[in-house]
Amino acid sequence: MKSEISTLLADIKEQILYLQELGAENFSVELPEISFSANSKAQSLKTEVSPERLERFVPTEFDLPKLETAKPKAAGAENASTRQSLLEATKLSRLPSLPKRNSFSTNQKTEPAREIEMPKTIIDETPPLFGDFKPTLGESNETIEEIRLDIGNCVRCPLHEGRTKIVHTTGNFNADLLFVGEAPGANEDAEGVPFVGRAGELLNKIIQSIGLRREDVLVGNVNRCRPPGNRTPTLPEAHTCRPFLKREIAVVKPKVIVVLGNTATQNLLDTKVGITKLRGEFQDYFGISVMPTFHPAYLLRDPSKKREVWEDMKKVRDFLNNGTPST
Ligand code: URA
Repeated sequence: MKSEISTLLADIKEQILYLQELGAENFSVELPEISFSANSKAQSLKTEVSPERLERFVPTEFDLPKLETAKPKAAGAENASTRQSLLEATKLSRLPSLPKRNSFSTNQKTEPAREIEMPKTIIDETPPLFGDFKPTLGESNETIEEIRLDIGNCVRCPLHEGRTKIVHTTGNFNADLLFVGEAPGANEDAEGVPFVGRAGELLNKIIQSIGLRREDVLVGNVNRCRPPGNRTPTLPEAHTCRPFLKREIAVVKPKVIVVLGNTATQNLLDTKVGITKLRGEFQDYFGISVMPTFHPAYLLRDPSKKREVWEDMKKVRDFLNNGTPST
């Protein structure tokens, strides 16, 4: 009962925020704090989310007016701490303890490039006796460190020529949620961290809109080197880099992958269907639910599309909380 009331209040609160977003600025309603009961479904997230953050699952940071009850935050301090946690998140020492962790050393020589298609053992293609056959991800027998070593000082495609830093997947390698973008931009290339520019700031708000922090999730790109002039990576470039992301996915096995924008969606899902058609509906990637949505950079150009992204993110939030897509 208590949790039903909480859900109801959350729904009302969300509606009010949307009315405010749509321009009803004088629409001010006091609502009691929402408290989640101990057995609330939202707490079943593998990544622990404090009730305080769950309470913010409405998109308060998503360019919407702040709730009156929200704690005041020094914007500078928040940016500094977000940046600090991003930098922390990139350190290999912050990776989850994996069996071969201690044997990893950045001074180790990079192994010669080996066949970089996804190892066959990762995909379980054993057909079931009955029903539709959908291959799923089997057990990966490698670690994130081994994948990094394999990437090494990569020169496999022409994008290495213009890069400053390789931009690896960063964040929580135990996360239920992975965001995948296209390729690094100038800021990412300089820092070696994905999504740290303006699109990254918006991505952080999108993440916060579903009650998570950037450090709770994993963020990466199909391509790890910046294309000159931020052009779209070519198919051969994407196909050269993509296997590393796929191998990471097989290690981490997130519950949901959010693919950001057309290029990332088409490259990960191996489809020619466009983002406008695919967004908003869960797709399948070897048994992992994939939500295609618009790229934050596109939202910066056309903020009216934020509404659709919010709808998509609510589906992701509900899937993470309930284990099934909401209807
Ligand atoms: N755009 C992307 O697709 N990836 C980044 O890391 C930054 C911007």
